[in-house]
Amino acid sequence: MSIAIAIDGPAGAGKSTIARLAAKELGFIYVDTGALYRAIGLAASRREFTSDSTSDIIAMLSDIKVELAFNDKSEQIVLLDGEDVSGLIRTPEISMMASAVSAIPEVRAFLLDLQRDMSHTNNVIMDGRDIGTVVLPDAKLKIFLSASPECRARRRYDELIEKGMDVKYEDILSDVIARDYADSHRDIAPLKPADDAVMVDTSGEDLETSVNKLLKIMREHI
Ligand code: DC
Repeated sequence: MSIAIAIDGPAGAGKSTIARLAAKELGFIYVDTGALYRAIGLAASRREFTSDSTSDIIAMLSDIKVELAFNDKSEQIVLLDGEDVSGLIRTPEISMMASAVSAIPEVRAFLLDLQRDMSHTNNVIMDGRDIGTVVLPDAKLKIFLSASPECRARRRYDELIEKGMDVKYEDILSDVIARDYADSHRDIAPLKPADDAVMVDTSGEDLETSVNKLLKIMREHI
């Protein structure tokens, strides 16, 4: 039987970086489910839909194909209608669209089997917002990873600047706060820890400290 570890938490808590490194260490596959919502956000944005175009976005789902694959370095790539869009989904604009589409129940239902299927055939560390609560409620270990909004905004800012993007810290911070609010107040699958989640706060920690802390918890559980 394959083993699943769920990591949920708000944007910028370090989930993806920490989960990727921990997965490599444990020989698990790392699945970043946010990329799926981002791919749908990109598809909607390419059609010039706005965050209010709910019925258009729902209708679009029958016309698009979203898939996860892995490249030769075992890194996840996300395909939209066969096109590798992994590099196009990390902009602040697509972050906001991803958050908007993720509040639509039909979008969540559309992505559910895809996410569950990944865990049937592989040992996975899957990160998202509702992995422990909805997608993999029977996960062997559930972690809820958080950090202060300022700390998360600083990390995202540094990441985007390093990629050469022209962004302001204040804008990123208000995006983080707006997305936290939207993600935790939506009716369907809101961001919240599973009852049996292990709570971990990474505020003020460097990456190595957080990875080691998580690896210790994981090794105790698997
Ligand atoms: O983790 P991320 O920032 O790449 O996620 C993008 C958006 O998708 C985020 O606003 C919340 C949403 N999301 C979700 O609702 N459920 C998930 N399992 C993963 C992401």
